[in-house]
Amino acid sequence: MVKKNACIFISGTGSNLKNLILQSRNYNFPINIKIVISNNKNAFGLIYAKKNSIRHFLINTKNDKYIYQLTNILINEKIELICLAGYMKILPKKFLDLFRKKIINIHPSLLPKFKGLNTYKRVLENKEKKTGCTVHFVNKNLDSGNIVCQKTFYIAPNDDEFTLKTKTQRLEQVVFPEAIIKIYRYIRI
Ligand code: GAR
Repeated sequence: MVKKNACIFISGTGSNLKNLILQSRNYNFPINIKIVISNNKNAFGLIYAKKNSIRHFLINTKNDKYIYQLTNILINEKIELICLAGYMKILPKKFLDLFRKKIINIHPSLLPKFKGLNTYKRVLENKEKKTGCTVHFVNKNLDSGNIVCQKTFYIAPNDDEFTLKTKTQRLEQVVFPEAIIKIYRYIRI
């Protein structure tokens, strides 16, 4: 199978990155992770990139030129899919236009509900019966692009923010790889 070149953007722990690296070792998984991008030099997820000898780059989003450097890296590496895996910055419109339909994001709620930050707190405050996680294409509106895959679970009476996060992130390990398979097998970007 000819794998697509992918890049993973992170800002923190990197549990989704770790899982995607594992999945990508499978012959039938459609992507090869060529590079990892982080906006945070202390992102724990960078350890997984280093351990697996995946090239990784730090970007400084405070410097206006970062987007040109970033674009160059992605074009030079012939990146065909960008996965935002806990990347906590907004990407500029110019960048989104350049990689239209090539950027996906994982979000810890059942979109279109609870876009943005503090999802677990808001889910509990709103007394939702169920929650979950979503992989969606990225467009210029926050957490609003077409949905690729979603997974749901019922909230238990004693769930708190910590348990919701644990349960949601467990499901993320399933939904992200599934979304990538779906994109190349059925959506064919
Ligand atoms: C994930 O739960 C992801 O859904 C969330 O950040 C976490 C990153 O975890 N993303 C967002 O909230 C984006 N708005 P990880 O670094 O362990 O993969």
